[in-house]
Amino acid sequence: MALKPLNIGLVGYGFMGRTHTNGYKRVNDFFPELKHRPVLKAVCGRSPEKVQAFADQWQYESVESDWKALIARPDIDAIDICTPNNSHAEIAIAAAEAGKMILCEKPLALNPEEGERMCAAVEKAGVANTVWYNYRRVPAVTMAKQLIDEGKLGKIYHYRANFLQDWTINEDLPQGGEALWRLDAAAAGSGVTGDLLAHCIDTALWLNGSIKDVTAMTETFVKERMHTETGKKEKVTIDDACAFMCHFENGSLGLFESTRYARGHKALYTLEINGHDASIRWDLHDLHRLEYFDNSDEGRLRGWRSIHVSDHSGDQPYMDKWWVPGLQIGYEHTFVHQVADFISSIDNNTAMHPNFRDALETQQVCEAVLESAKVGTWKNV
Ligand SMILES: NC(=O)c1ccc[n+]([C@@H]2O[C@H](COP(=O)([O-])OP(=O)(O)OC[C@H]3O[C@@H](n4cnc5c(N)ncnc54)[C@H](O)[C@@H]3O)[C@@H](O)[C@H]2O)c1
Repeated sequence: MALKPLNIGLVGYGFMGRTHTNGYKRVNDFFPELKHRPVLKAVCGRSPEKVQAFADQWQYESVESDWKALIARPDIDAIDICTPNNSHAEIAIAAAEAGKMILCEKPLALNPEEGERMCAAVEKAGVANTVWYNYRRVPAVTMAKQLIDEGKLGKIYHYRANFLQDWTINEDLPQGGEALWRLDAAAAGSGVTGDLLAHCIDTALWLNGSIKDVTAMTETFVKERMHTETGKKEKVTIDDACAFMCHFENGSLGLFESTRYARGHKALYTLEINGHDASIRWDLHDLHRLEYFDNSDEGRLRGWRSIHVSDHSGDQPYMDKWWVPGLQIGYEHTFVHQVADFISSIDNNTAMHPNFRDALETQQVCEAVLESAKVGTWKNV
C-alpha cells in the first residue's frame, strides 16, 4: 500500500536540523508499519546560498528564506522548528494558526507566558504537536520508565541528575550571533537551565511525576564577553551553572546540577533514581546501558547489573527495529524514534508525548529555578 506523504517544512538547518532530517530519512526503512512517509518538501534559512547548499546535501525539494512564506505554502503539512529559542513562539503560533502540525525544538519557549500562548494556539487549532525532548526515546531510558511504571523500584526516595559540559570556560569566547546564541539570554532565554537542565527536568517529570517546589543557585563565572553583533564587551546575562533541589509530588527529593564549566565533560547527562526496592542509573556516554540494582536478588549475587539494552528477545524497547541482539544503537536513533512515534500517533489518532503542554510544565520548573536563584528562597512551581 502506498504511504501517505507527510510534507515537512524545516526551519533552521544547524545541529538539530541535521538530526531531525536524518530521522525523517531513516524512519520508514526501520518502522515499516507506519502509514505516512515524511517528504523533505522545503527547508528555510535566512542565507539563500547556505540554505540551498543544505537542501542539495540533504535532498530537500525546495528552499525558502522566510519562515512566513514556508508556513503559507499549502504543500507543507508539518513545520519543524530548529531555530534558536527566541523564535519558537512566533513561528509555532503562526504555524498553528495556519493549521500545520508542529514539531518544535526544546525548550518550548523563552518563558512560561510564551509557552502558554503556544499551547493555547495548538490546542485551539487542534494540530498535532511535539517537542523534541529526545532523551525519553533512548531505549535504556524508555526501559527505565517501564520498570518504574511496573512498580519495580517501589516507593521512590531520590532523583538525581547532572548535565555537565566544559565548552565555555574560555573567557575569550564571544557571545551572541549564529554560533554562540546560547550565550546570549535574549536569544536563549537562559543559560544551562533552559539548555541542559530542561532535558533533565523533562525526563524527571516523565519518570517521577510533577515537581512541587524548588530552591536553586546559579552562577555566571565570566561576567562580560564580546558580543558578536555589536563588537563590544557586554554583560553576560545567562546562567553558566545551576544547581537546584526540589520536592516531587510523590514525596521524593530531587537534586539537579548543570554547568558548562566542568572541565573534561562534554555532554555528561546522568541520572539515578533510588527506590525502596531497587535503583536505576543511566549515563549518556554509555547510553545503551541501564544499570539496575534489585534488593530482592539473592544476597550472594546482589549487586549493580549493567544491562546492555539491545536485546529485543527480552522486549527491550525499540530494539526490534534495529540490528541483532548485542548490537547497540546511538544518539541519532532517538530522533528516528521520535519521528516514528509522532507518525504513529497521526496514523492511529493517539496522543503524542511530550507535547507542548508537557513541555510547558518543564518550562514552569525552569522558571521557578531561575526565580529561586534570583531571590534566594524556595519557590513553588
Ligand atoms: N533536542 C536536543 O537535544 C537539542 C540539542 C541541541 C539544540 N536543541 C535546540 O534546537 C534549537 C536549535 O539549536 P541548534 O543547536 O540546532 O542551533 P544551531 O545554531 O546549530 O542552528 C540554528 C539554525 O537556525 C537558523 N536560524 C536562526 N534564526 C532563524 C530565522 N529567523 N529563520 C530561519 N532560520 C533561522 C540558523 O541559521 C541555524 O541554521 C534550539 O532551540 C536548541 O535549544 C535541542
